Amino acid sequence: MKPFVIAANWKLNKNSEEASAFAKEFLPLVEELTDREIIIFPPALIAHTVASEFNGSPVKWGGQNSYYEESGAFTGENSPKVLKEMGADYVLVGHSERRTHFAETNELLAKKVKAIQELNMTPMLCVGETLEQREGGQTKEVIVEQLKKGLELAHMTKPLMVAYEPVWAIGTGKVASVEQAEEAHSILRQTLIEMNGSDLAGGTSILYGGSVKPDNAPELARQENIDGFLVGGASLKPDSFSDIAHAKK
Ligand code: PGA
Repeated sequence: MKPFVIAANWKLNKNSEEASAFAKEFLPLVEELTDREIIIFPPALIAHTVASEFNGSPVKWGGQNSYYEESGAFTGENSPKVLKEMGADYVLVGHSERRTHFAETNELLAKKVKAIQELNMTPMLCVGETLEQREGGQTKEVIVEQLKKGLELAHMTKPLMVAYEPVWAIGTGKVASVEQAEEAHSILRQTLIEMNGSDLAGGTSILYGGSVKPDNAPELARQENIDGFLVGGASLKPDSFSDIAHAKK
């Protein structure tokens, strides 16, 4: 059985002091949750603080983004190799904010997925439709395309996670209904099965993200194909993120 996964996407929030304070308050709250995987995605400039607070604890951490080359003439980029050396276990790939504000394409994301896996970290590939695409009946087409193209160069036998994050639900307070989320997750699961067979697809965690809060987490967690959460706003406070982390599968 794969563990339920609860991941915090801090986006561009918190300085080192705030990250330390979070860790000190959060760790005791989740100490007894040994049957689940808890991950923090801090902004790169405070990854060092997060590493020193969480390395060696049951809480894992990862990069919000990395480049696919380990080093070279790529001004401003983050090296996946250095993330690994610092203790990162995960890297988010293709969050909708990266796709929208930084013009990241499926082709670029596929290279990142491959590079991250080759360094023995787990990429968490994010997919999701905009409101316009949902209203235009294109949800399935969009998320299947993002999944297939994003995994084009992936090693399907190496660890991998997927996050379904409908763009219209991110930071809007508008959560997808359990039916909408479960439908999208089962489409993604089915696509993974077509790509790799049921054994591997069953082992791939598919997280839901988009306005997850302590009050909607329990019902979402009960859905068959929801294997965890990627949480933005509600992950910034230790108590609300801990409440979400306690949601029972
Ligand atoms: P939200 O963000 O929980 O604030 O909607 C989720 C995300 O962007 O990963």
